Amino acid sequence: MSSAVQMHSTPTGMIKKHHVAIILLHWFNAITWLLELTTGAALIQSEHFRFAPLWFVTMITEVFGSRANLLRFHIAAGLTWITVFAVYGIFGWQTYFHQEVLEREVALDRDDFNWLRIRLLRILGRSNEPLPPQGIYNAGQKMFAVMVYIMFPIIMVTGLIMAFHWGSMTVVGWAVVIHFATVAVVVSGLMVHVYMGAVFPEEKPAFFSMITGMVPEEFAYKHHHKWWKEVKMLEELHAAGQPEPRPAPAPSRLLTALRMKEYWPGYWAGLGLGLTLLATFLIVGQGLGASGGFTRYLAFILSLVAPGYASAHPYWSNYVQPGQPVLMDFLVFELIGVALGGLLSGWLAGRLKWTTDKGPRISPKTRWMLAFLGGAISGVGARMARGCTSGLALSGGSVLSAGAFVFMLAVFAAGFVGAFFLRRIWL
Ligand code: HEM
Repeated sequence: MSSAVQMHSTPTGMIKKHHVAIILLHWFNAITWLLELTTGAALIQSEHFRFAPLWFVTMITEVFGSRANLLRFHIAAGLTWITVFAVYGIFGWQTYFHQEVLEREVALDRDDFNWLRIRLLRILGRSNEPLPPQGIYNAGQKMFAVMVYIMFPIIMVTGLIMAFHWGSMTVVGWAVVIHFATVAVVVSGLMVHVYMGAVFPEEKPAFFSMITGMVPEEFAYKHHHKWWKEVKMLEELHAAGQPEPRPAPAPSRLLTALRMKEYWPGYWAGLGLGLTLLATFLIVGQGLGASGGFTRYLAFILSLVAPGYASAHPYWSNYVQPGQPVLMDFLVFELIGVALGGLLSGWLAGRLKWTTDKGPRISPKTRWMLAFLGGAISGVGARMARGCTSGLALSGGSVLSAGAFVFMLAVFAAGFVGAFFLRRIWL
């Protein structure tokens, strides 16, 4: 950053923020969502699921003449919405989904995570720290955009399955549930988004930027300082007749919110884990677990090697029963997902390599032996406690099971004692 830019202390004038194509897409999207939410809410007429007041449902149905017409309109508007996004996606792939664009507009970096933390503390009146500088969008806007990027394709696909009855009744049934759930997630974010965009006084210039495409430089300077600096630097290069710098190779951040070289801050990862647990309860009807899944893998091997022994054994017969596939259990698939998810995030973050994490004093062989020994003891312990940190502590704790709290206290106590004796292995 040149010193001339830093000295530029009283910014005036306007800066271009949004391309006209994005402004048109945004308002087309906003209008479609208004129509789809209105008609969608009126389509839910069953006594058990209706959430809109009866007068609203009757009024909207009457506007369209009948429920069948209402459904036709909802589907037609939905198909138009999908088509417009598909056209933008196909023709604008390079423009809107370019790595550089995603990194600038969607990916959260360290400043963003700090911004969220400080913002939350300031709202709670527990901090006076200044907010870290923000890029073209602030961290809250980026989180909303990430959510939209993830939810939109799900809403589109489930909508198509429902509209054209693709697949069995089970598939359509699941599509209905997932469609409602994902729309609900977007709506919860939209409430904040629309409030910030249309009502919150400080954000007025942002609202007009979605109409004119321009934002006052002073607003950019105060609210999106990192972006303002970038714009100014480019302006200076232009003025000096120098070429724009080629984008630096991907910085050690996220490609999207997913691509992060640094590990996620623990609190955010914890929040993500909590939401995953909530989603598992909602979708699968049970919590997360790990040791139960491993037990099933072992029971499966046993059922292949010694089927008679397994089905007669008082413990293994809980898992191995004639006519009941041992591996047909949520935890079995969850563990495959955990392994694939870990592999994917390691790959995205460029961390994928063969290595043995160990302390400096021990050899890789000792480390592997200790890992197996520790794993085996933990496995036996988890079965004796009827659950592990995931199944018992996390899932059990979320339903306030007393066993979960006793288990966690025991884990921490044993951890402290164990660490005293074993720390030399790591130091
Ligand atoms: C009346 C309704 C809406 C209003 C007043 C509104 C307002 C705005 C404004 C002012 C911006 C620009 C923010 C800036 O440049 O700093 C924006 C961006 C954006 N809007 Fe909306 N919006 C509305 C509806 C929607 C809907 C329905 C969606 C999607 C479901 C949506 C998704 C987005 C996205 C993804 C961005 C890009 C940046 C961000 O995440 O904030 N908006 N909106």
